[in-house]
Amino acid sequence: MECRLATLNDIDEILKLHSRYQVDTINEEDKKDGFITTAFTKEQLTSLIKDEKGLFIAKKDGNIVAYVMAASWAYWSAWPMFVHMIKDLSNVKFQGVTLSVDNSYQYGPVCVDKSVRGTDVLKLIFDFARKEMNKRYPILVTFINKINPRSYEAHTRKLGLEVVKEFQFNNNNYYELCYDTSKAVN
Ligand SMILES: CC(C)(COP(=O)(O)OP(=O)(O)OC[C@H]1O[C@@H](n2cnc3c(N)ncnc32)[C@H](O)[C@@H]1OP(=O)(O)O)[C@@H](O)C(=O)NCCC(=O)NCCS
Repeated sequence: MECRLATLNDIDEILKLHSRYQVDTINEEDKKDGFITTAFTKEQLTSLIKDEKGLFIAKKDGNIVAYVMAASWAYWSAWPMFVHMIKDLSNVKFQGVTLSVDNSYQYGPVCVDKSVRGTDVLKLIFDFARKEMNKRYPILVTFINKINPRSYEAHTRKLGLEVVKEFQFNNNNYYELCYDTSKAVN
């Protein structure tokens, strides 16, 4: 298993993995293990790689089996959900620190192919991305839809993210979570 930053050559394979678990294209029977709401274009992933250095992949036997996206709030501000979160950052504290667009970034979506779920892949790619983003930001911020218990369990109980608030957006209920990027995952 190899974790690394994605390059432009990886985009097609990442989009294939993404489409297997994105809400518009996922198989019905896979939905219970979580799905990704946001759709991405090639251009958006190109910018994520070139401008943000925020697309991380795990490869096994030559295939991309997982990705993590992470980027500045400026990058995410193209999506209304993130505009909502940005406006609220100053109302949220993590370990005594008020969140801002300068001290935090948004982690996710994250996707692990079902062939390697329940293994150490999520932990390895999460920690790789965490270490890279720690060069720029002390605090990771993310959200999890309450209808995704698998992601909630993986990120809270197994990786140690902490819920900092709950909120609603577009008739969905979410947890907002944070993580100290200087901390290696146990
Ligand atoms: C969410 C995701 C990244 C988690 O990675 P993973 O490798 O599946 O996570 P793990 O299996 O290590 O951990 C999940 C835990 O939740 C448990 N779990 C699974 N389904 C559950 C459910 N419905 N309710 C409660 N817990 C559940 C698992 O048993 C496991 O715990 P265990 O290791 O103690 O048995 C992965 O499942 C995935 O990519 N899903 C599709 C895309 C997605 O939902 N992404 C997140 C939103 S952007």
